[in-house]
Amino acid sequence: MLRPKREKKTEKVKLSKESIQQAKKIFQYLKPYQISFLIGWIFLILSTGMGLLFPVLMGKLLGGSTTQSVSPSNLQWINLNNINNVALALFILFALQAIFSFFRVIIFTKVTENVLRDIKTHAFSRLIYMPMDFFNQQKVGELSSRISADITQIQETLRTTIAEFFRQIIIVLGGILFLFFLSWKLAFLMLATVPVMSIIAVFFGRYIRKLSKIAQDEMAASNVIVEESLNGITNVKAFTNEVWLIGRYRTHLNSIFQLNIKSGLWRGVFASFIIFCIFGAIVFVIWQGLLLTQGKNPELSMEDFYSFIFFTIMMGASVGSLPELFAGIQKAVGATDQLMRIIGNNSEKELMKGTQKPLINGSVEFNNVHFSYPQRSDINVLKGLSFSAKPNQTIALVGSSGAGKTTIASLILRFYDTTNGKILINETDINDIDVEFLRSHMAYVPQEVLLFAGSIRENILYGNKTADENQLKDVALKANCLEFIEKFPEGFDTQVGDRGIQLSGGQKQRIAIARALLKNPKILILDEATSALDSESEKSVKQALDNLMKERTSFVIAHRLSTIKKADLILVLEQGIIVESGTHYELLKNEKGLYSKLIKLQNLE
Ligand SMILES: Nc1ncnc2c1ncn2[C@@H]1O[C@H](COP(=O)(O)OP(=O)(O)OP(=O)(O)O)[C@@H](O)[C@H]1O
Ligand SMILES: [Mg+2]
Repeated sequence: MLRPKREKKTEKVKLSKESIQQAKKIFQYLKPYQISFLIGWIFLILSTGMGLLFPVLMGKLLGGSTTQSVSPSNLQWINLNNINNVALALFILFALQAIFSFFRVIIFTKVTENVLRDIKTHAFSRLIYMPMDFFNQQKVGELSSRISADITQIQETLRTTIAEFFRQIIIVLGGILFLFFLSWKLAFLMLATVPVMSIIAVFFGRYIRKLSKIAQDEMAASNVIVEESLNGITNVKAFTNEVWLIGRYRTHLNSIFQLNIKSGLWRGVFASFIIFCIFGAIVFVIWQGLLLTQGKNPELSMEDFYSFIFFTIMMGASVGSLPELFAGIQKAVGATDQLMRIIGNNSEKELMKGTQKPLINGSVEFNNVHFSYPQRSDINVLKGLSFSAKPNQTIALVGSSGAGKTTIASLILRFYDTTNGKILINETDINDIDVEFLRSHMAYVPQEVLLFAGSIRENILYGNKTADENQLKDVALKANCLEFIEKFPEGFDTQVGDRGIQLSGGQKQRIAIARALLKNPKILILDEATSALDSESEKSVKQALDNLMKERTSFVIAHRLSTIKKADLILVLEQGIIVESGTHYELLKNEKGLYSKLIKLQNLE
């Protein structure tokens, strides 16, 4: 069946000991703001505590207005006999609650925003230092959307959910205390019915939502059939599959039908449940309460009875909201757990411990280097490579796709560690060199040039943020891009668009070259810098490259062999092995060699 898989969007989060342990790390971010946070909590407790007085006062107000108010009340300690006074007290109560809540919300928001800013900064600065292998294992798009979803979840929870959760808990617990204080008999009766009913109602509601979610998925699947069939109508007709498709569509419609009937049934049950059980339970409690107020010597005063009713309503609402709030906190713990695990991965700094800062003069030596990518350790990408590049030489890497050229570049940049064998930079083991120091002497023009959204100026200055206008113009000239930049009305301030989409491939490549040139590196790596160019732009990029390769060691990876004729050393790679090496003319001598073959294929002799 071609049915799309049902997406599991609402992953069940379970609180495990380990995830709670991870989630606890959130406290380290809260620490700098702990005093504000504490004050926030005090306001929360104050405003909730005030809230608990509301039913008491309402009881006074309503009960006091009746003639039976002479009956003894359990809450005589609030000495308010006059209804006007009670009303006034209620207003004062609301005013205080309003003030407390105001400060609570502000403080929680402020603390949350601070914490989030810190977490985001920390997460980003951890991420950006993760080793390349980390990014191979994670899909980058997924990673960033997951992190932002996690952070949103944490934000929501810190700002409101936790506070709300505890507020409701205080209401429930405080409410229970008050209820027992008012009348233990009635309290027992009430607790045995109303909260139980509200919890059942919540789970009921969830079950019904789940049913309709399944029905929706099924609906989506059936829509796919219609869409596919109409889009591919020529196929449908040519293969005379109409009847088969109608059959498939009907099967889906039938199961949607069944599901909706089922959920309708449950909705009916739910409605009757609410009407009969919940309202029934409330009426039952009210009835029993009223019974207690009867007689000459009632067990319960009217005032207390009203208070009781208000407490019951308040608690009912609180209990009903607890499961959702708890689910929110659960999700936030899951989100924090995930985020902390990502942040907790070892960064390059922790993994690459080299500290030496030797003179980098451009000499690079590979000594029997073996390599396999960490997550595909069974496939050997490089199998015992040895070569040496002397300062200021140009080394060309050629070979078929997948031979391992980009991999060599990655190893020189120390994106990965070799599996076996050594790489020496000016006779120092690359593993002993401080990785940032090493890379600060290298420039890389990758296979796929990526410009950042911003101006051309910003993109070139990426190579050296302190360069001045003259240097900028100079490198632009050498990279053969000054001409086209100056043709733009806004010159260097022209925006390149997201990922540089407003420029042509060749223009982007020349800007990337200018960027590399501005860095003035000792070691330069060009991966297919002339791919995707027409011969006119290739010529101008080639010129730019020739300028770029002076006075530094350059590794040039190229499919177009015309660009590497002048190289001091050409390494011909096949499946991770150097099969031939030498200069262009030396290699041509071996007529049966791979290089000669490639040259012939490109008609380049
Ligand atoms: N990040 C990675 N994780 C795992 N395997 C990889 C990774 N990058 C490359 N490979 C594998 O390593 C081998 C060499 O790849 P590499 O990118 O070095 O080839 P290349 O010579 O640059 O090819 P091309 O000319 O197509 O750019 C390939 O078999 C490829 O599948
Ligand atoms: Mg490559």
